[in-house]
Amino acid sequence: MRISEALREKLTTAKRVAVLTGAGISAESGVPTFRGEHGLWKKFRPEELATVDAFMRNPELVWEWYSYRRELMSKIEPNPGHYALAEMQESFPEFSLITQNIDGLHQRAGTQNVIELHGNIQRNRCIECNRYYQEVEITETEKVPTCECGGYIRPDVVWFGEMLPPKALESAFQVSRSCELFFSIGTSAVVQPAASLPLVAKESGAYVVEVNIERTEITSILDEALLGKSGEVLPEIVTAIKTLRG
Ligand code: OAD
Repeated sequence: MRISEALREKLTTAKRVAVLTGAGISAESGVPTFRGEHGLWKKFRPEELATVDAFMRNPELVWEWYSYRRELMSKIEPNPGHYALAEMQESFPEFSLITQNIDGLHQRAGTQNVIELHGNIQRNRCIECNRYYQEVEITETEKVPTCECGGYIRPDVVWFGEMLPPKALESAFQVSRSCELFFSIGTSAVVQPAASLPLVAKESGAYVVEVNIERTEITSILDEALLGKSGEVLPEIVTAIKTLRG
């Protein structure tokens, strides 16, 4: 892989680094992405599974879908891309990782400062009183878990048409505005507001690098594109950082 002189310089001197990740970073762990040929949204309709209306209309179906994904995600492990990012955090005084993923793999790989924009599939909350539940049980008789207050419990993830968690969103914009080096990794960069973070970083003067197996809608606006699997490209970047920063 060819790392440009400009990126080498940033890897050597940067103090503040921010990273945005999407489904692509977990693809090598076996988590399906959303778009593309084998993407989830090719087989399933988001408006039937990932909106408040869908949940109110058919909570059983929505729980079936999330139970399936939770089961899938409980069996997987972080991959070399997740571990490389966890290692990268040691090299920079300020390192923030913003993720659109709900699988918790960055934390499991050891990254500490993770800003979750779209929630986490392991958490649940009541739609009435907002009480949080770490575990819920789905049974043949109780296909939709219910809170002590009587309200339905839902997965604590962000659905289409919903606001993102305000604190996470504010932190994401703040670190994107203040970083010197920004990586956009494994995201198609089409879902707002996450998709605007690389552009905010760029407008604020950061050097912005994309890591993806293909070009995206924002590639041409960014400073550099490293084409390849994140599980291969990121370990190479870590090796370069070690050589450059000692
Ligand atoms: P997408 O499925 O839209 O995009 C995944 C990106 O990862 C694509 O650009 C792929 O080219 C790239 N990719 C695939 N495998 C890769 C690999 N091994 N290494 C590097 N890149 C790879 O997923 P997101 O951009 O994360 O939101 O989608 C954003 C949001 O849309 C999701 O958080 C979800 C979805 O609807 C909600 O559910 C709210």
